[in-house]
Amino acid sequence: MKYVIGIDLGTSATKTVLFDEKGSIISSASCEYEMQQPHNGWAEQNPHDWYDAAISTIKAVVENSEVDKTAIVSLGISGQMHGLVMLDEACSVLRPAILWCDQRTGKECEELTELLGRDTLINITANPALTGFTASKILWVKNNEPEIFERCRHILLPKDYLRFRLTGEFATEVSDASGMQLLDVPNRKWSQTMIDAVGIKEEYLAKVYESPEITGYINSDTADKTGLSTSTSVVGGAGDNAAAAVGMGVVEEGKAFTTIGTSGVVFAHTDNPIIDPKGRVHTFCCAVPNAWHVMGVTQGAGLSLQWFKNQFCGEEVVKASQDGKDVYQITDEMASAVRIGCDKLIYLPYLMGERTPHLDPDCRGVFFGMSAMHTKAHFIRAIMEGVTYSLYDCLLVLKEMNISPKSMLLCGGGSKSPLWKSMICDTFDMPVETSKSAEAPALGVAILAAVGSGIYSDVKTACKKMIQSDAKITQPSAQSTEKYRSYHKIYASLYHSLKDNYKALACEN
Ligand code: XUL
Repeated sequence: MKYVIGIDLGTSATKTVLFDEKGSIISSASCEYEMQQPHNGWAEQNPHDWYDAAISTIKAVVENSEVDKTAIVSLGISGQMHGLVMLDEACSVLRPAILWCDQRTGKECEELTELLGRDTLINITANPALTGFTASKILWVKNNEPEIFERCRHILLPKDYLRFRLTGEFATEVSDASGMQLLDVPNRKWSQTMIDAVGIKEEYLAKVYESPEITGYINSDTADKTGLSTSTSVVGGAGDNAAAAVGMGVVEEGKAFTTIGTSGVVFAHTDNPIIDPKGRVHTFCCAVPNAWHVMGVTQGAGLSLQWFKNQFCGEEVVKASQDGKDVYQITDEMASAVRIGCDKLIYLPYLMGERTPHLDPDCRGVFFGMSAMHTKAHFIRAIMEGVTYSLYDCLLVLKEMNISPKSMLLCGGGSKSPLWKSMICDTFDMPVETSKSAEAPALGVAILAAVGSGIYSDVKTACKKMIQSDAKITQPSAQSTEKYRSYHKIYASLYHSLKDNYKALACEN
């Protein structure tokens, strides 16, 4: 039996899972870290925290299994997308990483659009200039921290920084590189036009691979620290959403999934690079060679509930630890006792601005319709409903593009909530299936590792062999769909009523 490791470098934690070649979990470990928000709309993390988390979790999964280390043939890394890691000549980290949900680069997006024009940007990168993407972050550093920009010699995505530390190689792969806004997405290679536009050199960027290709081997430092062997290869891996797609078997036309993680995503596989001319959803290379995907993004999905729990659910956190439960099991039970529509309380999940469908870095979260009769449980349910409406907005854009999935797979931390699953099912009005493996991104990159190391010939075959489905399908209820859709109409109109006020608020000091 051969074994593969999947590492998922997320926004709240790094999860590492050791799988056998049939996709069964042998051992897993996770390690959390903080996100710093030095200003409203900014989001940063320390790349050393990711490295420490990866080393400790790899060591734990190797130690907690009886597997011979030379049988662990390959490792894949999945990661939060779009983040900017800058290294100097000596390969030292120059500043904290600027993350996917950071919204500081509105001016730089305008600068890119003025320089190249929106159509050229969309033709090359398949997306308009977006605050979340890496290119505008590079320009922000150039404009605001010129001394750091001058010293920069390497630009890496979060998971590729980790790869560099584990293997010594500067490498990336097409799915994550698509989110940098430096890749020619239809042709799957760096774009000289974009490189010139942000004022860097191509040699600062990592070599681009397809996701299942081998990019290097575990170096001796990593082997000493983790117990892995230097014969373990490291494949390209994938951005977290492309990785989750592989982990859920969304690797062919017609298949789609929704994830409720820190961010939320509605993702559909396509065999061609279909682009939304309005740029409301992203078109990226997917982890299957020669294929793409289209996805809409909700910036603050699980993040909204996590924020509310951290700020207002101290009692529930204590009770959860006393009862040996997950705190989200308790919040789920509380929200289940409230009826659809939360007695007229509506939440807009724009804590970190919003991508689909508004592309607005300045909008912020709102509770609308508060009454003295509302309880904490109403707020919890309103958050879950608001996130669901935002994900439904993503589905509506895909439908406009003639991408109309008939059913939906669901993954991410939020998929563990039966209530959230039923909300998605009823609002989308389609059957929803959860994957057996809650760790879809880790499984996805483990599948890519199994392909790269030759256990399976291609991604589709490996998915058939390694994904174990529990076929827990929830069917929609017509009555509930009608209620959710009626609230969604009010929800959707609120953004337009508030748009100018958001701009005014953003201009305040
Ligand atoms: C996708 C996106 C997020 C991050 C964090 O475009 O920004 O999904 O990858 O998970």
